[in-house]
Formats: sequence, structure tokens, C-alpha cells
Amino acid sequence: MTNTTFTPRVFSGIKPSGGLQLGNYLGAIKRFVGMQGQMETVYCVVDMHAITVWQDPAELANATREVAAGYLAAGLDPTQSILFNQSQVSAHAELGWIFNCVARVGWMNRMTQFKDKAGENAEKHSLGLYAYPALMAADILLYHATHVPVGEDQKQHVELTRDIAKKFNHDYKVDFFPETTPVIDGPATRVMNLRDGTKKMSKSGESDMERINMTDDADKIAKKFKKAKSDAEPLPETVEGLADRPEARNLIDIYAALNDVTPADVVAEYAGAQWGKFKPALADLAVAKLAPISGEMARLMADPAEIDRILGDGSARAREIAEPILRKTYDIVGMLRS
Ligand code: TYM
Repeated sequence: MTNTTFTPRVFSGIKPSGGLQLGNYLGAIKRFVGMQGQMETVYCVVDMHAITVWQDPAELANATREVAAGYLAAGLDPTQSILFNQSQVSAHAELGWIFNCVARVGWMNRMTQFKDKAGENAEKHSLGLYAYPALMAADILLYHATHVPVGEDQKQHVELTRDIAKKFNHDYKVDFFPETTPVIDGPATRVMNLRDGTKKMSKSGESDMERINMTDDADKIAKKFKKAKSDAEPLPETVEGLADRPEARNLIDIYAALNDVTPADVVAEYAGAQWGKFKPALADLAVAKLAPISGEMARLMADPAEIDRILGDGSARAREIAEPILRKTYDIVGMLRS
């Protein structure tokens, strides 16, 4: 199968569970903004994915607005991109069910993120958490999306999406779903924990000092970078010198991503510098880049009705693309509608 018949279209999403952190910004949102204007872009707040683990109903709607505010504050323009929340477009759930019937249990068993999240206690987790990569495939393929910008941790799920598309096309003898390309580029596709450079930065980490939240103010951002773990050596002369230095690698990658340069550029500028020089420079850079975004998020969150309006409008536009694709899928599968 070739993708030549599919119009280039970007789809990606973020779960509204527990607030945005720097990894979401550098690994996803900032790159979403970079793709806007290059092709059609559809960005979702995936609230149905959030409830795969318990979410307080009193907080979910606000968490959904907060991700939307992060999108807008970082530069996504609702007239250029479609911005919406998943549960307002019921076709996601419907195609998700069809894909539950295409994906194999053996494929799901290979998903490393479920193993990491569920750990020893897999039986106690929701069936939704286990099945969610099939819903993620539906999110993407409902728009015939050809490009999916994500962080490194989502690569396996986008590959599963390709397997689901291929099996559907093969089983039903059609050339209907595209083979989606994961777009995983730049220096910050895996931002690490500020206290342990071998662990991914995430919203669920134990200590707040491990991560930069997108709602942190300038003082907090600066303090967290100044206290971030580094090591005893000065900065190396070349990027090769960062091998086996996970904390150093992470701080340099973050600097590079924030400043739109390469890690090699950062190393060239700071070769031989001590951490006492580099960390304050990183803190200043982070504050300069992130504080305007967190300020704008707070401003947007003060007017929830406006965010709801944008998401409602985006949902209507998303349905215009999704519904004909779902109808065609039902025809292919042989569902009777009268
Ligand atoms: P989620 O909500 O966990 O994360 C959203 C995006 O942020 C990226 N990310 C990171 N990137 C770099 N470093 C980090 N430390 C870091 N932490 C998070 C993730 O890779 C992701 O791109 N299943 C998805 C959401 C989803 C989706 C989709 C994505 C649902 N349907 C369809 C793309 C297309 C998730 O749980 O991401």
C-alpha cells in the first residue's frame, strides 16, 4: 500500500491527567506548533484516555481546559488548527471498538507502557488502560492522519496503529487506512526527571522537584533547575562526551530544545564550563521561554467559557472529518444501518 492517495494531515493528543509538564511541552506541544501551517493539523485533548486511571469528576473538565490553555498559550491558533476534546466526538469511541476487534491480545501484551504502568498488579487495572492503544489508533486513523508528532514513549503505540491499519486493510481487502508516520525529532523527545536522569519526566512522579510544571512561576522554575541533579565533571567538549552522563545529557538537551539549537551548539558554547555557570544560564533561559506561556495559560483559564467555545467549535470541525470516515468504515465492515 502507498500513502500517496492520502492528504498529509497531522493528528496528536495529550491526556488531561494531572497537569502539563515540561516533557509534554518540549516533546509534544512545541513541536505541534512547529507543524502548524505546514499541513492540516488536528490536536486533541484526549479526555477519554485520561479516565483509564481514576479521575475526579470535579476536576476532569478543568484539567481538559488546562491542556487546551497550554495549546493556545504555546501558539496553537484555533483558526489554523482544529483544537477539540475527544469525548465531544463520539466517533472516537465507535472506531475504537472496531479496532478492539482488529488488534490481537498478543499485540497488546507487548506494549511496554502498560507493563510499566500496571507493574505487578495488572489484574487490578482497568480494561481501558490495557486496551487504550487501540483507542489511540482510532484517534489517529479517524482523521486518516499521516503524521503523528509524539515523544519517544509513544513510538510503540504509533507503530501499533500502523499494524492495526495494515490488518484492517488486509482483512477487508481495502486500501482505506494510511500507514501513519510517527514524527519523533529534535533534542527533547525524551525529557528526563531532574532528580534522576535515567527516569522519564512525568506528571505522576513522587516529588515536585523532579519536574517543571507548565503552571510553575518564574521562582519555582529557576529553583528547580538550580537544584537539578548534575554530576562532578564540567561540561564536555563534544556531545560524545555526554555518553553515560544521563543528567548532563538531559540538561543540555533541555537547553537546546528551549533555545531552538542543537545539543552540539550548546556543548560548543559551554565546553569546559562548571555546572555553577551552566545551571543559572539554563534557569534564566527556561524562565524567559516558559514564564510567558504559564502567564498566558493563567489568563486563558480565567475565562473558561471562551476555552469551552473554542473546543466546541473545534469538535464540530473534527466531526466533519471523522464522521464520513466512520460511516465508510461501517460500510466496509458490513454494519447494517436503516
Ligand atoms: P501523554 O498524555 O502521556 O503525553 C502527551 C505527549 O507528551 C509526550 N511526553 C513527553 N515527551 C518527551 N519527554 C517526556 N518526558 C514526555 N512526557 C510526555 C508524549 O510522548 C506525548 O506525545 N497516549 C498518549 C495520548 C494520545 C495520543 C493519541 C497521542 C492519545 N491518542 C493519538 C498521539 C496520537 C499519551 O498518553 O500521551
